[in-house]
Amino acid sequence: QAYNEKESLYIALNFAKDFFVQNLQTEEGRAIGLSYFKERGFSQAIIDKFDLGYTLDGWDHLLKAAKAAGHSEEILLKAGLILQKEGDPSRVYDRFRGRVTFTIHNLGGKPIGFGARILTQDKKQPKYINSPETDVYHKSDVLYGMFQAKKSIREKDNCYLVEGYTDVVSLHLSGIENVVASSGTSLTENQIKLIKRFTDNVTVLFDGDSAGIKASLRGIDMLLEGGLNVKAVVFPDGDDPDSYSRKVGSQAFTDYLEKHAQDFIAFKIGLHAEEAANDPIKRADLIKQVVHSLSKIDDPITRAVYVRQSASLLEIDEDIIQIELNKIILKVQ
Ligand code: CTP
Ligand code: MN
Ligand code: MN
Ligand code: MN
Ligand code: MN
Repeated sequence: QAYNEKESLYIALNFAKDFFVQNLQTEEGRAIGLSYFKERGFSQAIIDKFDLGYTLDGWDHLLKAAKAAGHSEEILLKAGLILQKEGDPSRVYDRFRGRVTFTIHNLGGKPIGFGARILTQDKKQPKYINSPETDVYHKSDVLYGMFQAKKSIREKDNCYLVEGYTDVVSLHLSGIENVVASSGTSLTENQIKLIKRFTDNVTVLFDGDSAGIKASLRGIDMLLEGGLNVKAVVFPDGDDPDSYSRKVGSQAFTDYLEKHAQDFIAFKIGLHAEEAANDPIKRADLIKQVVHSLSKIDDPITRAVYVRQSASLLEIDEDIIQIELNKIILKVQ
C-alpha cells in the first residue's frame, strides 16, 4: 500500500504524538514530565484533551522507535521530527529532547506539529522549540487550540486570543474553551480569516508585560482591518492568563474577564491616559493613534459609533476626530 507523501507525514506525526504521550507514563516521563504538568495544575483529563507529552532525554528515542515502526528518515525529516547533523547530513537525531510537548492539531484534529517546553531554567536554551514549516504545517494558517475551541467559539460567538500554549490549556481548566493562541508571533491575515469562519468577535488576552501590550496593539489593528469586533483585557504587570488564573482561581478569573473586557478604543486610551493627561504632545499623539485604529474599521456605521465614543473618552470634539479620520480614509481611497 503506497501512501502519498502528505499522508505519510500525517502518519509519522501521529506516531510521534502517540510516542510522546506514552513517554509520559515511563519512569522518566512520570518523574519529570508528568510531575511538571501536575505542578502547573494540569489534570490527566486536560493532558489527554490536548495530547500533551514528553520527549525522553537522549538523541534518538523517537528516531529508533519510528524507524522500527516503518517510518523512513526522509519522512521524519520532512515532518520536522528529526534534524541532520551539521557537517554530516547522513547523521540524524531527534529535534525534541528532554522537553514536555504540546501537540499542534489541524482543524480536523490531526497532529501537524509540536511545541516543546524546556523544564529547567537553563537560559542558554530557548524556552520553546517548535516544529518547522512543513508540507502539512503552515504556521501562518494555524492557531494553537482551534481544534479544541471551534465548537465553543461558535456557541459563545466569541474567541479569546492568548499568546501561549499554556494559556490555552489553563483557560480550558477554568472552563473556558473558546480560546486560541497566536503562539507568540504576530497575527497573520489567514489566522484572522480562520477566526472569522467561527465568529466576528475577538477578545485579546495578551501577557501583562510590555511585549504583550505591544503585541496586542498590533494585533488589534490587524483584527479591526479584518472586520472583527475587538475587545481586550489587561492583566496585572507580569501576569499572563495562565499565571493569573492560577493565582486567583477559576471563578475569580472568569469574573475578571467579564469585568475587565474593554473595547479596543477604551483599551488604547486607558494605556496612555495617565501620561497624556498632563502632556499636550502625548495627548495629541494618543488622539492620532486612536484615529489610526478607527481608520481600520471598514463599516461606516460601526466607525461612527466608535468616533462618538472616542470623542467622549478623549474629551475632545467629535468633529476634530472626524476631520483627522477623513484625512486618512480619503488618502486611502
Ligand atoms: N514562544 C516560542 N519560543 C520561545 C518563547 C515563546 O515559540 N522561545 C511562543 C510559545 O508559543 C509560547 C508563547 O510564545 O507559548 C508565549 O511565550 P511566553 O509568554 O514566554 O510563554 P508561556 O506560554 O507563558 O509559557 P510559560 O508559562 O511556560 O512560561
Ligand atoms: Mn499555506
Ligand atoms: Mn510573554
Ligand atoms: Mn506568557
Ligand atoms: Mn505563562
